[in-house]
Amino acid sequence: MKVVITKDYTEMCKLASRIFAAEITLKPDCVLGLATGSTPVGMYKELVEMYNEHRVDFSQVKTVNLDEYAGLSGDNDQSYRYFMNHNLFDHINKENTNVPNGTAADLEAECERYEQVVASMGGVDVQLLGIGNNGHIAFNEPCEEFPEKTHVVNLTQNTIEANARFFASMDDVPKKALTMGIGTIMKAKKIVLLANGAKKAQTIYDTVYGPITPKVPASILRLHPDVTIFVDEEAGALLKK
Ligand code: PGA
Repeated sequence: MKVVITKDYTEMCKLASRIFAAEITLKPDCVLGLATGSTPVGMYKELVEMYNEHRVDFSQVKTVNLDEYAGLSGDNDQSYRYFMNHNLFDHINKENTNVPNGTAADLEAECERYEQVVASMGGVDVQLLGIGNNGHIAFNEPCEEFPEKTHVVNLTQNTIEANARFFASMDDVPKKALTMGIGTIMKAKKIVLLANGAKKAQTIYDTVYGPITPKVPASILRLHPDVTIFVDEEAGALLKK
C-alpha cells in the first residue's frame, strides 16, 4: 500500500485524476470503478476539465459504480445515479455507465445481476474509493466478516448520520443500500482511495496501521498488491506521528 500525503484537497484531486487519465490513455476501453460522496467531486471536476481540453476520451470507457441507495430511483437527486450524471457523466462522452438499480423489484436479484455485469466486463481496471468515518468502503460497513459479493446492506447509524446532511430530515435518509462486496472490490487490478479532512484521520490511521479486520473494512486493502491512498494533511495527520 502506497500512502501519499498531499498539501490539500486540490492537489489530492489532481494527482488522483492523473491516474485515471493515464489508465484511459493506455487502455481506451478500460473499466473504471467509480465512487460517490463529497470526496471524489474535485477529481471528477479535473476529469471533466481534461475532457474539455481534449486530453482524455471516454468514448470506449466502461464504468461501474460501487453502490446505490435502496428505494431511490435515478431521477431522485439524492440517488448515486443522479450524483454521477450530475458530477461526471453529463459532462463527458460516456457510453457505458453502470450503477446498481436501487428500485429493482427484487434487490437480491439486482445484486446478482450487478455482480455479473462487473464480471462480464472482465473486472475493474482502476477502482476509486472514498472511506467512511467508520472505515467503510463502498457501503461495506464494519461487521464480523468481510462480505464477498454485491449485496444488500443495512446502513449503520454512523453512516445514516453522516449522510443526513444531504437529506431534508433523518427520516428521509435511506436505511438500506446495494453495494459491491469487499471481494468484488479487491478483484480490481488497481485501487485508489481518497480521504480528506480531520474527521477521516483516525480511520485512515486504523486502515494503514491497525489490525486487518472487518471492523475496519478498509484495512483489507493492505492485502491488495496495488493500492494508493491519497490523503490531505488533515486526514493524514495521525500517520505523521
Ligand atoms: P464522503 O463519503 O466522501 O462524503 O466523506 C465517503 C464514504 O462514505 O465512502
